[in-house]
Amino acid sequence: MKKRIAIFASGSGSNAQKIMEHFKKSNEAEVALILTNNPYAYVLQRADNFEVPSHIFDKKEFYETNKILALLNNLNIDLVVLAGFLWLVPLNLLKAYPNKIINIHPSLLPKYGGKGMYGERVHEAVLANKETESGITIHFVNENFDDGEIIHQSKFRVDKGDDLEMMKFKVQQLEHTHFPKVIEGLLKKMKSI
Ligand code: GAR
Repeated sequence: MKKRIAIFASGSGSNAQKIMEHFKKSNEAEVALILTNNPYAYVLQRADNFEVPSHIFDKKEFYETNKILALLNNLNIDLVVLAGFLWLVPLNLLKAYPNKIINIHPSLLPKYGGKGMYGERVHEAVLANKETESGITIHFVNENFDDGEIIHQSKFRVDKGDDLEMMKFKVQQLEHTHFPKVIEGLLKKMKSI
């Protein structure tokens, strides 16, 4: 049986797209569901393009009901992937999926993590501090922002003259290259348990 992935995303979903592309040809795993809190998120269009079902939810449903847990259970989800999703994950999901919820963050955690640190804000802070390197982190999710055990990091050099657009480009290159492979590696490990 193929392992089944659910992806939470709130925005464009370029990472979700790379993950769907990667596993479309796989016999080992598939993206079974896209979830979003944002009814206007472009990730919904991407899900349609790949014929992956999607679910839109609001804060109340996420934090005050077990509906999303039931949905993940019913679809036999093995791994939950946060790809540009900005809300803390509630305890009911953390308990049901121990070490099975992962997140990608656009910096070398623990630097530039925590509440309010997402997307462009991270790059702006890295540039403002004149860092000479930055990168990406893939980590397990816990009850705090950007805090769980680190699974993977990769770095890039911040060159003089790099602006916000260049930072976004460099981060995205690394994310798109590594995230699908890291997910594949995790799923393989889960198999042998
Ligand atoms: C990614 O760069 C991801 O690292 C970041 O949001 C972007 C989503 O892009 N996540 C965070 O900042 C979480 N704190 P995408 O919608 O194109 O995949």
